Parts: sequence; C-alpha cells; structure tokens
Amino acid sequence: MKNVILILPTYNEKDNVETLIGAIEGVFQKLTKYKLTILVVDDYSPDGTAKTVENLSKRYNNIILISKKKEGLGAAYMFGANYAFKYLQPDIFIQMDADWQHNPLLLPDFFYQLERGADLVIGSRYIPGGSIPGNWGIHRKIYSIVGNTVVRFGLGMLLPHDWTSGYRVYKKQVFTEVEAGLEKYSGYTFQVAFLRKAKVAGFKIAEVPQQFADRIHGKSKIAPFDYIKNLLLYILNNSTFLKYLVIGVIGFSVQTIIAKVLVQFINPGIAVAIGSFFAICANFLGNNLWTFSHKRISGLTKLSQKFIHFLGTSIGAVIIQGVVVGVGVWLWGKSAWFLLMIFAIAFLVIPYNYFIYNRFIWKK
Ligand code: GDD
Ligand code: MN
Repeated sequence: MKNVILILPTYNEKDNVETLIGAIEGVFQKLTKYKLTILVVDDYSPDGTAKTVENLSKRYNNIILISKKKEGLGAAYMFGANYAFKYLQPDIFIQMDADWQHNPLLLPDFFYQLERGADLVIGSRYIPGGSIPGNWGIHRKIYSIVGNTVVRFGLGMLLPHDWTSGYRVYKKQVFTEVEAGLEKYSGYTFQVAFLRKAKVAGFKIAEVPQQFADRIHGKSKIAPFDYIKNLLLYILNNSTFLKYLVIGVIGFSVQTIIAKVLVQFINPGIAVAIGSFFAICANFLGNNLWTFSHKRISGLTKLSQKFIHFLGTSIGAVIIQGVVVGVGVWLWGKSAWFLLMIFAIAFLVIPYNYFIYNRFIWKK
C-alpha cells in the first residue's frame, strides 16, 4: 500500500471543492494499491471554502484542511508537501488545481506511468490527445501556447512538451531532491522552477495527454503581467545559453569599437582579429562570473591555466572571423567587412564557442 498525498491548493473555490473531492474519492476506490489523503491548503479564502471542506471531512475520513495566510500557489504546494513529510509518511504526491480544470478521471493514467518507471508524470496539453479549451479566445490560446514555447526554448529544454501544466504526480524523492531554494517561487513560476530542477536532477519524466477544461465556477487568480515578468526573469536567470548570448553581445560591442577604430589604420582582417582578442577577454570574465557561475573557476592558478586554455580554444573563433572577413573583403571589397564579421559571429562563432565552453572550459 502506497501513501498518496493529493495537495489541493484552494483560494475561493467554494463551488468547486465539494464535487471535485467527491470525484477524486470515487477514482481512488478503484486504485486499490494506493491509500489516499487529500490535503487541502486553503489561504483563508474569503468565500468560505474552508467551511465546505470542514463539512466534507465529516463525510470522508481522509481529508485534512490546512488554513494559512495568503502566499501564492507555489507556497501552498511547499507548505502542503512539508506538512506531509512531517505527519503523513508520503510515497507519492499529486498536484492539481481545485477548479475542475484538471480532470480527476485521468489519475489512473498517471499512476500507470509511475508503475512503468516514471518518477514524475505531467498532464500535457501540448501532445497528441491533449488540448486547451476550444472556447478560449484566440488571444488566450496564443498566450498559452507562446508562453509554453518560450519556456521550452528559453531554458533550452524541449522536453517535456508542457512546462506550465499544474497537473502532476510524482514520487516523494522528486520533492526531497528539488525542494531546496524553491521557496523563492511562491507564485505560479513554482511549476516551471520545480520541473527544471527535477529535470536537472535526472528524474524520469513522462507525459499523459490532458484536455485542459475551461473554468465554470469562480475565477482564475493569475495576474498575467506579473506571471509573464517572473517567468521571463526566471528564464533569463536559468538559461546558460541566454546568459552566454548577453555576455556575447557585450563582448561583441567591445570588439566592434576596437575594430572600428583600428580598421582606419590597418588591414581589416587584422583589425577584426585584434578586436576579437579583447572580446575574448571580456567573454572569459563575464561567462565565469555569470553564465557559468554554477561551475565558476576560482583561484589565481586555476584561473590563469583556464584562461590560457580558453585563449587556445578561442583561436578557433579568431581564425573563423579572420578568414571569413579576409576572404570576403577580397571578393566583395573592403566595405563589406562589417557585414562579414556579423555573419561570421552569428552563424559560426556563437555555436562554436558555446559548444567549446561547455565541453572544455566550464565542464563539471
Ligand atoms: N492556497 C492557495 N493560495 N491556492 C491558490 C492560490 C494561493 O495563493 N492561488 C491559486 N490557488 C489555487 C486555485 O484556487 C486553484 O485551485 C489552483 O491554485 C490554480 O489556480 P488558478 O487561479 O485556477 O490558475 P489558472 O487556471 O489561471 O492557471 C493554470 O495555469 C497555470 C500556468 O499555466 C493552473 O493550471 C496553474 O496550475 C498553472 O501553473
Ligand atoms: Mn484554473
């Protein structure tokens, strides 16, 4: 018998919780290998959700109500899971919205994936068989699809397909492994931060198609602008590739200024090569301090060794630019040097350096 803790965060869900909990209890009557406890984490909902839940707990003996102050969705999940570890000996957690947007009848599919070896199962809207509500307006659909795509590509993690889905089932080990530091994400960004950490930790992630339903009672608590802002900040702070690009732009500016000055006096190929040497120094410092701060090189000896190594690999970038600009100028004339340099950086140097940095310079 495995202990399953379903954490149900509620804020003004009076008209949803009763029927939803009834449906969940029904599903678990057939999932006989699992012992369910429903942990309702309510942030003193002004609509009296807690009263409804209290009444329900007279009918069912596996409902626990936690009432606490308003802190956000992520905080509710953290609180619920920590409570479970303290008092309930959890084996498996379920996270789901309390507003019927997540269909409880899907739960057996999640457990089937767990039994097949997954550590974390996600209800995905963006895989075959999954969907977002058909009656949503076009703006809302685009908002949802684009948001999810930005997260996937921004973090450079294309799988799973649905990063913002709040419908998840996972083994307790996933929580203990990712928990540290997650209290920073007290709102909706929690979902993305949690998933990224689980992925970095190497947990096996599976997806089941989910038809995300439209809300009928009550309303969404998401504040779209806050959510977008926090999500973008999160991505910027956690995407090595984006940080690498930002540092690259700084390096590029250093290079451009130097090259633009020198090109008036010397051969453009050499001017660009000298400019790129200074860009390399800026890149080394910036990437070490920020992009790869989780693998930061420190200590004078180590730093100088690595810098020489870095210079060695960077010769590749210098040669690529020198050759492209040198040959291009010979073909199309001196005035083409700047466009040639941009071309060489965008399509050849950026991928080359990113690969080399990860593989040879800031390796684990
Ligand atoms: N305890 C508590 N505290 N619960 C909250 C809070 C809070 O501050 N804010 C929201 N909830 C509860 C709601 O009552 C609901 O049960 C669930 O969390 C989801 O909140 P909604 O307000 O319905 O979110 P949504 O439908 O707009 O957002 C959906 O998409 C997000 C991003 O894609 C949900 O599926 C989220 O889980 C998902 O992260
Ligand atoms: Mn909702």
